[in-house]
Order: sequence, then structure tokens, then C-alpha cells
Amino acid sequence: MKRVVLVVFTIIMVVVGVRFFNKKEMKILHFSHYIDTTAQRLTQIEKCGSCHKEVYENWKKGPHSNSYLTLKKHNKYIDSSENFPEGYNKYIEGKMESVCMACHTGKNLYETNFRDIDHNALANHLNKDSMPEVFEQATSRNIHDTEQLTSGVDCITCHVEKDQVVTNADSKSPNSLGLIKSNFFSGNMNCFSCHHHQVTTMNELVEKKVIPSEINCVSCHQEYNNKGKGTHYFYWRNDHISKKRPEHLVIFNCVKIKVENKKVLKFDWTNTLMPHGYSECGDAKAVIVAVYNNGKQKVILEQTINRKDFFDARPEMPPHFHVGKNGNNFEYKVPILKSIDLDDFSSINHFIILGYVKPQYWSDEKEFTEVYKKDVSLTDL
Ligand code: HEC
Ligand code: HEC
Ligand code: HEC
Ligand code: HEC
Ligand code: HEC
Repeated sequence: MKRVVLVVFTIIMVVVGVRFFNKKEMKILHFSHYIDTTAQRLTQIEKCGSCHKEVYENWKKGPHSNSYLTLKKHNKYIDSSENFPEGYNKYIEGKMESVCMACHTGKNLYETNFRDIDHNALANHLNKDSMPEVFEQATSRNIHDTEQLTSGVDCITCHVEKDQVVTNADSKSPNSLGLIKSNFFSGNMNCFSCHHHQVTTMNELVEKKVIPSEINCVSCHQEYNNKGKGTHYFYWRNDHISKKRPEHLVIFNCVKIKVENKKVLKFDWTNTLMPHGYSECGDAKAVIVAVYNNGKQKVILEQTINRKDFFDARPEMPPHFHVGKNGNNFEYKVPILKSIDLDDFSSINHFIILGYVKPQYWSDEKEFTEVYKKDVSLTDL
């Protein structure tokens, strides 16, 4: 009997010993997500990154860590470009501090817009009367402390509440880490302060049951690894050429063409992929090219989408926004239809659908880059 007790005791000691002498394990046992509020912002983020390496590296390559730098680049661009009339520059200078920096260098959301939020509350139960500050635009950090602005929208903006880290309600991580597991965080409200248009238009579709409520912003916009785990990389307009967008994020996949009676080409661009209004400043163009039997090519149709119409309608916008071609709001399942006469159908060999994007609808036509190409043979039509 004594021997059995001794053996069991030894086994227990070995297991406990391994747990305590394993360095990584020690760290976890004694670590809680305490935020050192006296540390410089950049130091703090690097600390997060030292444990969450993959998340940190992916965040670095994506839109949020670069949002301050792209804003700076934009400023340089407007100073040097003839596209921007003096009025625009003045407008931007006036707005820079109060407006632009807010979303491009966000303050800690859980201490500003979302302060005193009830983490058990479901985001869609909130309204402007009960919690008006939730519906406000993000606020900017200290714009005179330039260095700490360079992290743009960072871990702290999205995750930190006082000295704790906020995460999904269904997180499997141990509570001893001092995490706040939040229903509010799990909803799309995380994105609302800076992406109002997308969140509002998507919520409308969920409410009308046009799209299911299980999908959310991150499930479409975040890259997933081959184990199906989110990598924290958000696809964006300045993706490196080696980053291939998943098919569900390629809006040109919605372009359809059809020939009727060998006479008319019917063009149909119905948005079935994007469950929200088109981006504030993006610009996409679909081009249909006919390739003839003799090898010659002809552009037979061009269709641009952007939100210029929306900005045109606002008198307070500077004159710059009121020039050029109109776009289209590109709402969910509202088709853009066009018909083109084809007098020369018998000499056509096939068609090509091309897709181009430029980062901002106001940038020069020559900045359009080809991102999509699909041959459509006549037998497909
Ligand atoms: C000393 C290492 C360490 C540091 C520093 C650290 N974390 Fe963590 N964090 C962990 C560990 C370990 C877990 C639990 C295991 C896991 O889910 O990765 C965790 C979990 C999390 C989770 C929850 C994951 C889930 O399951 O929902 C989030 C979010 C998070 N950390 C964010 C941060 C942020 C933001 C910072 C910086 C303010 C930070 N962490 C700093 C080690 C660290
Ligand atoms: C309400 C939040 C918000 C405000 C305020 C804001 N932006 Fe943005 N900005 C965004 C978002 C979100 C994007 C990403 C693209 C999109 O949704 O169209 C963006 C993208 C941009 C881009 C494109 C960057 C790139 O990668 O090419 C520029 C340039 C830009 N904004 C400049 C500005 C300027 C200048 C102001 C001030 C007049 C401003 N922004 C104010 C949220 C904001
Ligand atoms: C734009 C807001 C935003 C920023 C910036 C951000 N996160 Fe997150 N983070 C989220 C959201 C939303 C989720 C939940 C993702 C999901 O459900 O797939 C998340 C999930 C996580 C998780 C748990 C899931 C996982 O992938 O392991 C960790 C850990 C984490 N973030 C750490 C960080 C760190 C560290 C940084 C800074 C380097 C950071 N986050 C920056 C919004 C953000
Ligand atoms: C069902 C998938 C899906 C969901 C969910 C979704 N989006 Fe999108 N989103 C798209 C598609 C598709 C595009 C268009 C991409 C393109 O232009 O080729 C897009 C475009 C965008 C853009 C412009 C940048 C870009 O990549 O073109 C932003 C910003 C954006 N979405 C934010 C959001 C936010 C915030 C939410 C949550 C409210 C959200 N999205 C939910 C599919 C989705
Ligand atoms: C504090 C403000 C802020 C928050 C919160 C935020 N974003 Fe962003 N987001 C931005 C800004 C600013 C940009 C533009 C970056 C650039 O191109 O300069 C951006 C860019 C993006 C882009 C790429 C857009 C493009 O045009 O390529 C996607 C996708 C995106 N955000 C998704 C999300 C999602 C999903 C969430 C919620 C989990 C979220 N963002 C939360 C400010 C924010």
C-alpha cells in the first residue's frame, strides 16, 4: 500500500515539476494581460507582438498599421498634384486635426466611444438614445506626439480597456489572463467607429434577413490559414502582389455577360458578394473587350463603380469632389444593366472581362491597375 502511495506521489511531483519548470508554461501561469499604462504606445504594442508574433506581423502588413502612413502620403500627394485645387488643400488642412486623424490614428475605443459598455449586451440592442457615444466617430490620439501616431490603428485601439484586453465572448483562453470576454466585441461594432457606412448598410441587410447574421466583417475580410484559423491579416487596397484575394472578395466575379440573338451583348453587374455599400474612396472599373477572328481587339463597354454620387450630393464638399464621371453606389443585389449592339458578332472570336482598381476614385485615370482577367468563349454565352 505504502509503495502505491509513493508511486502516485512521485508521478504527481513529476507532472507538477514539468509544469513549473517549463519556461513557457511559467510565463502563462504568472502572466495576466496587465497593460502597463506608463509604457510608450509603441513599446506596449511590441510587447503584445512578442507573444502574439503571427498576429503582430500580419497586422504590420495590413491596412490598420499603415493608416497613418497612408494619410501622410496622401497629404504629400495633394500638395504636389494638380488634381487638387487650392480649396481642397485648405479644406484638408482645416480638417486634418479634427477629422482625418480620428479614424487613421484611433484612440482606445473601449475607453472613448465604448466606455462603460456592458460587455454582456448584444451590440444590436444598443441605440443612439441609450448609448449615444457608441455611435460617434472614433477620436484621435495626441496629434502632436508624432512618433506614437505611426502605429495607426493598433492593438490598443481595438483591444484595450484600461488595463485589460477585450476579446471574443467565445474565447477559449483562460480567464486568469485577465481577459474581458465580450459579446459586444464579437459583433461588428468593433468596426463601426471608423467604417460606419459598411456596418450600417450590412446591419440593414441582416435585419431584413437578406443575409444571415452568422457572417461578420472579419469572417470575410480576414485571411484564414489552412487550418481555418484567422491570421489577423486584413486584405486591403495596397496588398502586396503576392497576396491573392480569396474569390469571395473579388467584386469582378459578379460581372456577367450574355449575347442575345447574335445581336446584343447584355451586361449585368449585380453585387452578390459584398453585403454593404461600396467603400468611401475606392474605384473599380469593369471593361468588356471583344477579340475578333483576325486578332484585333476592341473595348465595347466600360463600367465604373465608386461613391462619387454620394459625395456629389453634399454641398459642403470641396469643388474637387464635384468633377469627373459619376459612379454608382453599387448596393447589394441592385443590378447595373447595359445593352450593347453587336453588328459584327460573326467576326467575334471571344470576349475578355477585365477588372481594374485604383486606390481612390479621385486619383488619376492612369493609376488604374489590372487585377482581374477572364476569357469568355462564345460557347459560354
Ligand atoms: C507575455 C506574453 C503575452 C503578452 C505580452 C500579451 N499576450 Fe495576449 N495572450 C497571451 C497568451 C498566452 C494568451 C492565451 C493563449 C492564446 O489565445 O494565444 C493570450 C490571449 C490573448 C487574446 C485572446 C485570444 C482569444 O483566445 O480570444 C487577445 C485578444 C490578446 N491576447 C491580445 C493581446 C494584446 C492586445 C496584448 C498587448 C496589449 C497582449 N495580448 C499581450 C500572451 C501574451
Ligand atoms: C470615419 C473614419 C474616417 C475618417 C474621418 C477619414 N478616413 Fe480616410 N479612410 C477611412 C477608411 C475606413 C478607409 C479605407 C477605405 C474605404 O473605406 O474606402 C480610408 C482610406 C483613406 C485613404 C486611402 C488610403 C490608401 O491606402 O490608399 C486616404 C488617402 C484617406 N482615407 C484620407 C483621408 C483624409 C484626407 C481624411 C480627412 C479629410 C480622412 N481620410 C478621414 C476612414 C476614415
Ligand atoms: C482593427 C481592430 C484590431 C486591431 C488593430 C487588432 N485586433 Fe486583434 N482582433 C480583432 C478582432 C475583431 C478579433 C476577433 C477575430 C475573429 O473573431 O476572428 C481579434 C482577435 C485577436 C486575437 C485572438 C485570435 C487570434 O488570431 O489568435 C489576438 C491574440 C489578437 N487579436 C491580438 C492582437 C494584437 C497583438 C494586435 C496588434 C498587433 C491586434 N490584435 C490588433 C481586432 C483587432
Ligand atoms: C460576405 C462577405 C463580406 C462581409 C461579411 C463584409 N464584407 Fe466588406 N467587402 C466584401 C467585398 C466582396 C468587397 C469588395 C471587394 C472588391 O472591391 O473587390 C468588400 C469591400 C470592403 C471594403 C473596401 C475595401 C476593399 O477591400 O475593397 C471595406 C472597407 C469593407 N468591405 C469593410 C467591411 C466591414 C467593416 C464589414 C462589416 C460590417 C464588412 N466589410 C463585411 C465582402 C464582405
Ligand atoms: C479606429 C478606426 C478603425 C477601426 C476600429 C477599424 N478600422 Fe478598418 N480601416 C481604418 C482605416 C483608417 C483604414 C484605411 C487604411 C488605409 O488604407 O490607409 C481601414 C482599412 C480597412 C480595410 C481595407 C480597406 C481598403 O480600402 O483596402 C479593411 C478591409 C478594414 N479596414 C476592415 C476593418 C474591420 C473588419 C474592422 C473591425 C474588426 C475595422 N476595419 C476596424 C480604420 C479603422
